[in-house]
Amino acid sequence: MKAIILEKYEEAPELKYVSDRKVPELKENEVLIANQFGSINPSDLMFIRGLYGIKKKLPVVPGFEGSGIVEKVGSAVKTLKAGDRVSVVSGQGDGTWGEMMVTDETSCIPLIDSVTLEQGASLFVNPMTAWAMFEKARKEGHKALIQTAGASALGKMIIRLGKENNFPIISIVRREDQVKQLHDIGGENVLNSSDPRFDRELLVLSKKLSATICLDAVAGDVAGKILMLMPAESKLVSYGALSEQSIPVNAGVMIFQKKVIEGFWLTNWIQEIGLKEFHKEAKKVQEKLGTTFHSEIQKTFSVEEGEKAIEFYKKNMSNGKVLIAFK
Ligand SMILES: NC(=O)c1ccc[n+]([C@@H]2O[C@H](COP(=O)([O-])OP(=O)(O)OC[C@H]3O[C@@H](n4cnc5c(N)ncnc54)[C@H](OP(=O)(O)O)[C@@H]3O)[C@@H](O)[C@H]2O)c1
Repeated sequence: MKAIILEKYEEAPELKYVSDRKVPELKENEVLIANQFGSINPSDLMFIRGLYGIKKKLPVVPGFEGSGIVEKVGSAVKTLKAGDRVSVVSGQGDGTWGEMMVTDETSCIPLIDSVTLEQGASLFVNPMTAWAMFEKARKEGHKALIQTAGASALGKMIIRLGKENNFPIISIVRREDQVKQLHDIGGENVLNSSDPRFDRELLVLSKKLSATICLDAVAGDVAGKILMLMPAESKLVSYGALSEQSIPVNAGVMIFQKKVIEGFWLTNWIQEIGLKEFHKEAKKVQEKLGTTFHSEIQKTFSVEEGEKAIEFYKKNMSNGKVLIAFK
């Protein structure tokens, strides 16, 4: 099959296009997928450099997320059949940047009729994560939330969820053009962390709105600073590390102000709620995939142009998703 191959984890990894990769073998509890679109996400960029929480045996076809058509199911698979259209993630082995892959049942979301395969390629990871974290923040009784990387695809979903549910969102970005971008989609409280007035503005606004939770995708100095500026008894939920730095925290904010840091990973959340509940939540999200959970697709490349696709995405992350197509 045609695929993009990673042979070595390194800072600037070489990704090779091949046309003779062996189609992976199916086990009884697995599903063989004919991939239609592979997405490129920040987690893939970390993975190919060996910096992600998961490492796979090399050589491997990267790509954690995509969409495809079920080609064949193992004898123990209960919820899927050949021909089903699915949004997929790859846990083990070859991923979505190749023509075929095997994965397990929990890593497939059957698509409803109104969702196209192109849309389905960006359903699993960002929309489900945005929905899970937003709902968790509301259920925990927070009155407003702060988010970093506000101009990311996921950040824009959080802004739309906030508007629809009358729940104030403070979005933090790092460039002035991103402030405008978020105002244009209806973002109300957008702060630029590079602006000299940032600290004061965040301190005042988070107190005024009682924003006691921050969904943080950046880590590093900015995350440590945000936790310091938030009201007492606030929580920072770390779900990404785009800065690739650790979070420096002053012990005093935890000891005297009862502030905490916790992590969020979609895979853990799915295990916590179970497959049945997850499919129920996924259905709600799919119904709003064209609106609330919309991901802009800025460009689609063929698998032969895979390396170009990754370079393009790296330089244009705030402008929408980049897909690899197999048909
Ligand atoms: N934990 C989980 O389960 C989970 C699930 C889904 C997503 N995530 C995480 O969610 C985050 C957003 O994903 P996405 O697909 O929505 O991203 P995306 O659309 O590809 O956009 C990435 C955004 O991050 C910004 N960014 C990159 N490096 C940055 C830095 N050092 N400081 C501040 N901003 C930076 C980019 O802004 P510029 O244009 O300025 O570069 C861009 O707006 C990622 O960290 C991803 O790993 C985690």
